[in-house]
Amino acid sequence: MIFPDYRPRRLRQNSCFRRMIRETKLSVDDFILPLFAVNGKGIKNPIPSMPGHYQLSCDNLVKVVKEAKNLGIPGVILFGLPDKKDPLGTQAYAKNGVVQKAVKAVKDKVSDIMVITDVCLCQYTDHGHCGFVNKNKIDNDATLDLLAKTALSHVNAGSDMVAPSDMMDGRVAEIRQSLDENGFSDTPVMAYSAKYCSAYYGPFREAADSAPVFGDRRTYQMDPANAVEAIREASMDVEEGADIIMVKPALSYLDIICRIREEIDLPVAAYNVSGEYSMIKAAGKMGWIDEEQVMMETLLSIKRAGADMILTYFAKEAATVLNR
Ligand code: PBG
Ligand code: ZN
Repeated sequence: MIFPDYRPRRLRQNSCFRRMIRETKLSVDDFILPLFAVNGKGIKNPIPSMPGHYQLSCDNLVKVVKEAKNLGIPGVILFGLPDKKDPLGTQAYAKNGVVQKAVKAVKDKVSDIMVITDVCLCQYTDHGHCGFVNKNKIDNDATLDLLAKTALSHVNAGSDMVAPSDMMDGRVAEIRQSLDENGFSDTPVMAYSAKYCSAYYGPFREAADSAPVFGDRRTYQMDPANAVEAIREASMDVEEGADIIMVKPALSYLDIICRIREEIDLPVAAYNVSGEYSMIKAAGKMGWIDEEQVMMETLLSIKRAGADMILTYFAKEAATVLNR
């Protein structure tokens, strides 16, 4: 196929040809909307670094979930901000914890949308780490039981799927076992399998008040330099019973999404994280980029890399564009 016998531009000359040969198409079905739940009533605190996103009390959260549903979005993922934190993150698995209440409220009032809950301790611990801390070290095995308790309490409250984001070794198996033992063998686990230690989480940590008080997350989240290790992490989670494998963040890790898609035969999710959202919002506000086009191109690139679903703060806006 050499020029002039072959001319790739022949099939680019009008929008009908372009539509015929288009390889990747974004759909509203691809999106999962992350939301932040707080206790109280009538609360809608704007998150400055994430324009369009708020910390929401149950009443307002339910409204946003209804909006998402009406746009055709198939799922939301909930994060909670508790009133009080302690060393063991007890509010993460409290019967009346903020996420447990939010799940209940949403499941009571909205149907036909999946409510996924993020399982981690960092929003609930006073030290801000994702695991149990012993002498300034994160104790992997002592954390597993707390995570399993958290996951079970979410599912007891009505969560449709749990998503552990802590990056402790062995937590998927522990959660799977606990759900199975309690009659929830039909509830899937979406594992944050290749979750990197990334500065792109900055705005989220402000939104969820979950930054570590000492040290960093390098002893449990993955080194951004590693790709083969991501396959190992994902394979472990498959063995342990994960139903969906997630890569996070998305944009600096499109190669990881692509490799995991090729090597793992489970649905793959990608998390288009807070910093990725904030950068586009900021540049858009400055007038330096066409925000809507960059949003759609970005989401398309994540799908083209191999993601079957995209957790994104753009979910509602992108759905609005696709529904237009
Ligand atoms: C907590 C958690 C984080 C995110 C999701 N769950 C932050 C972190 O690990 O520090 C990041 C999400 C985002 O940046 O949008 N385990
Ligand atoms: Zn965490």
